[in-house]
Amino acid sequence: MATAKGVSVGDNSYWHQGDNITTNHHHPLPAPPAPPSYKLGLNLDGAPQIDGRLFVGREQELAQIQEWLSPVNPTQNVVAISGLGGMGKTQLSLHFAKRCHPSYSAVIWLNANCETTLKAAYVALVRRFHGEDGRGEAVGKIDEEQAVRTVRQWLSRPENKTWLVVYDNYDDPQLPGLRSSTGYDIRTYFPYSTQGSILITTRSARLTFAKQVRLKKFDDLDQSLAILATRSSRETRGDGNATKLAKRLDGLPLALATAGDYIGKTPDSFGDYLQMYEDAWQDLADNSDGLFNVLKGGSERFDGCRVDSLHEKHFNTTTIDFRYCH
Ligand SMILES: Nc1ncnc2c1ncn2[C@@H]1O[C@H](COP(=O)(O)OP(=O)(O)OP(=O)(O)O)[C@@H](O)[C@H]1O
Ligand SMILES: [Mg+2]
Repeated sequence: MATAKGVSVGDNSYWHQGDNITTNHHHPLPAPPAPPSYKLGLNLDGAPQIDGRLFVGREQELAQIQEWLSPVNPTQNVVAISGLGGMGKTQLSLHFAKRCHPSYSAVIWLNANCETTLKAAYVALVRRFHGEDGRGEAVGKIDEEQAVRTVRQWLSRPENKTWLVVYDNYDDPQLPGLRSSTGYDIRTYFPYSTQGSILITTRSARLTFAKQVRLKKFDDLDQSLAILATRSSRETRGDGNATKLAKRLDGLPLALATAGDYIGKTPDSFGDYLQMYEDAWQDLADNSDGLFNVLKGGSERFDGCRVDSLHEKHFNTTTIDFRYCH
């Protein structure tokens, strides 16, 4: 990859206007043309992608995101996909990125789970700007704060407005009126200019600076069955136990995918899995000193409650992850 235009590390002259920046009038619509040097294409390094053929549903949400994050919008657009753990926020953001990337000059996926990870991702991005993928110049050690400034400035260039940045798993926000001793304010990583398209995935429902896409579980049984079928490579039609299992897993994508993956790797049937699932819940009820009833009862205090059964090799690992939604 060629070195991205206007980037230099270690001094303040990040964007010398290069003599060789030309305007290309043949970029696909609807994105306005971006100078070639700002075209980075699709960058999903490190993202937990699933095969596109396994992705089910979410068409309404995709259409809404596409409308809100149109690269022709003159202002900065920020959209947050919020929802409980395992609801499919990350996969939705990745599917959107893969489907719509030709409309953007650059699509950059970043793990925003914590500040340390995000800073490291900015450093990696600066290396990428410099073509440090074997063919570019070696830039040596890069200071993290410097890298953050470099990326923010690169995203702020007046001729570089048609990018999309995905901040994934921003679950611990520290915002005005929302305190967290471990969290941070993601806006300190946004460009200095209010431009570009930003997509955030988060378990928090309180990112008030963003337009909200609230992701819910699948309410269409056929979609739940489709996940079970694609993951297990088994036929679900006409299988009453597959339908029972799909209903029991209640439209939660992570639980459905986990079940389908397990069934695909073992001789067990949908009915066997359902039985093991019920046994695991019973086991939990017997050994949880009341916590189970709080979870099962869907207490309002625990609206951020997530119960994932991770059925590993012998179906003996059940993890429960529950948290307050801020
Ligand atoms: N639309 C979908 N179609 C098929 N499978 C899906 C879909 N959405 C999610 N999944 C499955 O569910 C799993 C969990 O999804 P994902 O990681 O996107 O959830 P999340 O909401 O980002 O969770 P977390 O809050 O823990 O980050 C995925 O690894 C995938 O296997
Ligand atoms: Mg996620």
